[in-house]
Amino acid sequence: MLLTRNSAQLTVYAGGFEKHAWYPRAFGSYGTVSMFTMTGSKPHSVRKRMLSNIYSKSYLQSSPHLNAISRTIIYDRLLPILHEAASSKTAIDVHEINQALTMDFVSAYLFGLPSGTNFLQDVPLRRMMLHIYQCRKPFEFYHQEVPNLLGWARVLRIPLIPKWCDEANCVMDTWGLKFCDNADKYLTATDPGSEPVVYKQLKQSMEKQLPTKEEDPEANAQALRQMRLEIACEMFDHLTAGHETSAAALTWLYWELSKYPDLQRELRKELLTLSPTIVYPVPTTASPDLPHPRSIDALPLLQAIVMETLRLHAPIPGIQPRVTPYPATSLCGYDNIPPNTRVNAQAYSLHRNPEVFPEPETWQPKRWLKPHDSPEMEEMRRWFWAFGSGGRMCVGSNLAVQEMKLTVAAIYTNFTTSIIDDTGIEAIDAYTVKPKGNKLILKFENV
Ligand code: HEM
Repeated sequence: MLLTRNSAQLTVYAGGFEKHAWYPRAFGSYGTVSMFTMTGSKPHSVRKRMLSNIYSKSYLQSSPHLNAISRTIIYDRLLPILHEAASSKTAIDVHEINQALTMDFVSAYLFGLPSGTNFLQDVPLRRMMLHIYQCRKPFEFYHQEVPNLLGWARVLRIPLIPKWCDEANCVMDTWGLKFCDNADKYLTATDPGSEPVVYKQLKQSMEKQLPTKEEDPEANAQALRQMRLEIACEMFDHLTAGHETSAAALTWLYWELSKYPDLQRELRKELLTLSPTIVYPVPTTASPDLPHPRSIDALPLLQAIVMETLRLHAPIPGIQPRVTPYPATSLCGYDNIPPNTRVNAQAYSLHRNPEVFPEPETWQPKRWLKPHDSPEMEEMRRWFWAFGSGGRMCVGSNLAVQEMKLTVAAIYTNFTTSIIDDTGIEAIDAYTVKPKGNKLILKFENV
C-alpha cells in the first residue's frame, strides 16, 4: 500500500510500525545488521542512542574534527581541482567529483583523515572503488523484492546474480574492515583531524556491553569478534548512505543553478557576507580558515537552494517500507488492515503536492524564502520528507546539510558554472538515485 497523504505518512513513521525485512535483505552486510537495517525498534533505539549526539547539529557545528576535515577537503583538495579546471578551461564531470568529495567527507568523519579516503586526489583508486561499488546496484532488486526467486534460481543453477557481483561484495567487505582496522590505530589521537569520531564513539559504547574477560574469557573473545563485524556493518552503512545521497543532491543542485546565472550572482553576493570569505587561492597574508558553520547555515538563499534541490531531486525518493502492527490498523480510510502488511510513503509524491508546492515540477528555490513562521512555510516543512521522519529518520541529515552548504558556498564564491553536457541527468529507478548517465559535465569560470 502506498501512502500519499501526509497524515497517514506521519502515523506510519511516528512509531509502532516496524521496518520491513526488506532492509536487512537488501542492505545487510557482514552477516549482521546496522541501525539502518535493524527491523526491531528496541535494538535500533539502543544503537541510535550511541550515535545521535555526534551527528547532532550543535555537535557538528562546533566540532574541531569536522572543522579540520572541512579545511583539508575544501582548501587542499576540492578548490585546487576546480581552480585548475577553470584556469585551463577544461570542462569536468562534477558527479564524479561529488562522489569523491562526499566519500572523503564522510569517511574522514567516521575514521579520521589519515584512515579515510582521499578520492578527490587519488583518481585511479576512486575510479576503481566507485566502479566496484556501483556495479552491484542493478542486482539489488532481487534481494529486495524476490528473495525466494534467488533461492530457486540457485537450486536450478540459473545465475540471476553474476559471480563478479559476489566478488565485488567481497572486495567491499574487505575494504570496510580495513577502514576500521586502520582507525583502531588512531583511537588515542589528540589531533582533531585524525580522531576517528564515529568509529571511536561506537566502539567505546559497544565495549561497555561486553562480558568482561575475567568473567568469561571465551564469551569475551567471541563477543569481540562479533563486535568487530557489527561495527564494520554500521560504518559501511554510514559510508554508503553518506556518500551516494549527498553526491547526487550536489550534482542536481549544480545542474539547476548552472541554468540561472542571475541566481548564481545573487548567491555569490550572499556568500560574500561571510567572514572570512572562502576565497581561493588564499591570499598569502591570510590563513585558510572557514566561516563558522552557523553563519553558513544562516544564509537564507543558500538554505532555499538546498531545500528546493532536496525537494525536487530527493536522493531517496521512493519507498521506505514499514509493516502494520498487531492486531489490525486503519489507514487512509481503509479499516482492518491485517498485521504485517507492507506500507510505504515516498518523498517523490509528497514533494509534488501542488497545493503545498505550486508548479511542483519546477525548481523554484525562492518558494523557501517566505517568512519562517508563515502558514505556507509550515506546510512546506511538514511535507518535506527528504530525510524521512520519526525514530528512523536519517541520522546523518545535519552532516549532509552542513557539508553540502559548505561545498556550495566554496564553489559559488569563486566560480560560475555552466552546462556542457547533461545527457542522462534524469534519475535512475533505485532506492538511492543518481543521474542515469552517471555524469554531469560543467564548465567552471573564475569570477
Ligand atoms: C542528502 C543526503 C542524505 C539523504 C537525502 C538521506 C536520506 C535518508 C533517509 C530518507 C533515511 C530513512 C530511510 C528509510 O527509512 O528507508 C535515511 C536514513 C539513514 N541515513 Fe541518511 N541521508 C543523507 C545523508 C546521510 C549521511 C551523510 C549519513 C551518515 C553519515 C546518513 C546515514 C543514515 C543512516 C545511518 C540512516 C538510518 C537511520 C535509522 O534507521 O535510524 N545519511 N537517510
